[in-house]
Amino acid sequence: MAVSERVKKGMVVGSWIRRMFEEGIAMKKQFGAENVYDLSLGNPIMEPPPEFKREIKRLANHPYKGMHGYMENAGYPETRAAVAAQLKKETGINLTQNDVIMAVGAAGAINVALKTILDPGDEVIVFIPWFVDYFNYIENHDGVVKPLPTDENFQPRLDVLEENIGPRTRAVLINSPNNPTGVVYGPDTMSRMADILRKKEAEFGAPIFIVSDEPYKKIIYDGMKYPSPLTFHRHSIIATSHSKDLSVPGERIGYVALHPDSTDHDDMIKGFVFCTRVLGFINAPAFMQNVVRNIQDVTIPVSEYQRHRDFIYNNLVRMGYTVNKPQGAFYIFPKCPIADDVAFVHELQNEHHVLTVPGVAFGLHGYFRLVYCVDDTLLKKCMPGLEALAKKYKLMK
Ligand SMILES: Cc1ncc(COP(=O)(O)O)c(C=O)c1O
Repeated sequence: MAVSERVKKGMVVGSWIRRMFEEGIAMKKQFGAENVYDLSLGNPIMEPPPEFKREIKRLANHPYKGMHGYMENAGYPETRAAVAAQLKKETGINLTQNDVIMAVGAAGAINVALKTILDPGDEVIVFIPWFVDYFNYIENHDGVVKPLPTDENFQPRLDVLEENIGPRTRAVLINSPNNPTGVVYGPDTMSRMADILRKKEAEFGAPIFIVSDEPYKKIIYDGMKYPSPLTFHRHSIIATSHSKDLSVPGERIGYVALHPDSTDHDDMIKGFVFCTRVLGFINAPAFMQNVVRNIQDVTIPVSEYQRHRDFIYNNLVRMGYTVNKPQGAFYIFPKCPIADDVAFVHELQNEHHVLTVPGVAFGLHGYFRLVYCVDDTLLKKCMPGLEALAKKYKLMK
């Protein structure tokens, strides 16, 4: 066999979202793009903010010698300093450029973080439902995935967390605001999680990291303040990107940041730098590092997403779906009216041309995910299909 067993397994696990997206493309050819309503892929509709374009123009008009060349693997010191200053402003923790490494998107950042801390057989805890590629990222570095449940509101079950931390637990990989549920882990949850980790660190004599995948941290609603793991746990690694807060996922710009008080801080940072190189990234895109440096405090208009959140949430509730109100990100994760989420998603697709993703893609049967980072018209056009199935399955009259 040409393709390894590991890759074959990974391709099966991670194929749902792309499959729906590709089936959507085929359906658009068959029925016309205006007759297929695609809520399957989290590709933000918003254009980047004007400040992003201003920075591109500035660089185009004032290029400097060497600006497309190699640099330190960690990234430009000025950009790392700017990221650190923003994190300090947000968290009050005294980060400097020595705590930050630029990365190739959040996906690249998570892989750098995991490769740095994992030996074969080390365990990484994740909460279900999860972002589908976590499984593959952990396996990339010979880690063992330890999936744990969330409660009825999709908050981590901290009692179960405590029971499941063992001598091989190296990290808890969290994602808040969450894809696919939209929940935010509040200060109380983060504080209790950190207490548990500290207790277990003392018991097993080794650091247990929170690896925080937080590309949606600025897409947060109702005036809520993002509770950063940095303020709760000194063994926190932020692995994130500007993909969603600047609406530039194709540009692949992100970073890894380590709490300044972490154990073995300098070695960890050297590890991140080494892993950036040997994972084949070499460095984060040079041009984008120059673009994002001066716009660390800029974000796309979050109120637009909040408006979409309100629209879709209110409609789903009106139709009788059981659904948690998202506090951030741009996904919503209602309960399916029938147990078989795959059958339900296919019915929505085949009978009503609405494309969504079944809960099984996120490790949790019985739910389905819709994205609302789409335009108003598309969102409205999805409602009749959702309503028809709500009526068929007696959620509403
Ligand atoms: C939870 C989560 N983590 C990571 C990523 C990957 O982000 P990036 O495109 O910055 O690599 C995504 C993208 O949708 C995501 O939803």
